[in-house]
Amino acid sequence: MANANPRSTAVIGLQWGDEGKGKLVDRLAGEHDATVRFNGGANAGHSVVVGGTRYALHLMPSGVLSDRAIGVIGNGVVVDPEALLREIDALSAQGVDTSRLVISDRAHVVLPYHKIEDELREAFLSGGAIGTTKRGIGPAYGDKVQRASGVRMGDLTRPETLRERVTLACRLKNVSVQRMGESLGLERIVLDPEEICERALAWGERLAPMIDDTAYLLNGMIREGKRLLFEGANATLLDVDHGTYPFVTSSNSSALGISPGSGVPAKAIGRVIGVMKAYSTRVGAGPMPTELHDATGDRIRERGREFGTTTGRPRRVGWLDLVAVRYSAMINGVDEIALTLLDVLSGFDELKLCVAYETPEGRTERFIPDGERLGQVAPVYETMSGFGEDLSGCRSLDELPAAARAYVERIEAFVGVPVGSIGVGPDREQTIEVSGGVAV
Ligand code: IMP
Repeated sequence: MANANPRSTAVIGLQWGDEGKGKLVDRLAGEHDATVRFNGGANAGHSVVVGGTRYALHLMPSGVLSDRAIGVIGNGVVVDPEALLREIDALSAQGVDTSRLVISDRAHVVLPYHKIEDELREAFLSGGAIGTTKRGIGPAYGDKVQRASGVRMGDLTRPETLRERVTLACRLKNVSVQRMGESLGLERIVLDPEEICERALAWGERLAPMIDDTAYLLNGMIREGKRLLFEGANATLLDVDHGTYPFVTSSNSSALGISPGSGVPAKAIGRVIGVMKAYSTRVGAGPMPTELHDATGDRIRERGREFGTTTGRPRRVGWLDLVAVRYSAMINGVDEIALTLLDVLSGFDELKLCVAYETPEGRTERFIPDGERLGQVAPVYETMSGFGEDLSGCRSLDELPAAARAYVERIEAFVGVPVGSIGVGPDREQTIEVSGGVAV
């Protein structure tokens, strides 16, 4: 994919996650000097296939798989050091050079009690649960915003500060986790600050050489004319402000989160690529207007291998929601669409596209970023002819069957953004590059 823009690129999911961002970031990493995570934590799951080997990345910026870019975990990420070290070890064992990783000293730390809190809250709320990944994401961001009990990566190398903060956090949390545990009939839970500090200091010792002020690092790179690749985790419709609240994650997972999550000015982002699947998926609770509960849904799930990279949960599957995608394109200022998994849709007589919602107040073409109100809409579909051909070997637009091409053109026309690439399989090479859009 050519990139004439001298400034930086952002890759953002336009749906509810798992759009195949990792594969695109991996392809683009070679053209950039750094790949930067700015939000989320180990809840994200990027799976990238290079040369037939599948790599599962959670916290690690995908660029680490390139032989050029450094990987940066920005201040907006919540880092589970235990999970990160496990990932570093697993990648090293697969022969990946993980030494080009830099972690912001201001990124908040996910500590063992955050995962306990996440799990307990989900169980305690039962019917009202969000269906989180239970990676401690919400509680860690909660402590960041609460302030007094937040622990940052830089604190892992300062035993006094760490002890003070963890002790305070345990004092606060012991009250609520013990009450919740009790009402769930669990054994008494006691959070021990000494034990937690000891583990955290050991993680800090290993990670210390990688911890730095990444805002200075990234702005310095921009000044030197280097190019950054911002790698969104989770996706736009899970954004805490602009997604289907409260069924969202706890960070700004759209492009709007890049500046606060990295310390890089918004004007430094030259190009935004929106990644979308040719259909819809969602993991966890929350509204999904086009969800399929039938054999068609099962078929898409099987063909698309729609099982979570992070939790292994089967994903909810549905027809493409163009109303949602057009909203996401607007929020992110998307310049170009990377369409993924088009090959999964082969073999259906008809394909449906949601082009409006029927709401209790009438028909609308606007997305409704509200968990409750979006749950009350019915999709209005447009039907297109399906295609029977296997697309996995297609490498140019001309090789696409007419019905597949018409489907892509409809997406482009509805969203109003050119499609720059089309994914037809999991491997790096299984991509159709398009210059200037399909309809041109
Ligand atoms: P949390 O981020 O673990 O708090 O989960 C909040 C919601 O976001 C849940 O519905 C998760 O399934 C969903 N979620 C978080 N990260 C991802 C992701 O990377 N892909 C898909 N869903 C995600």
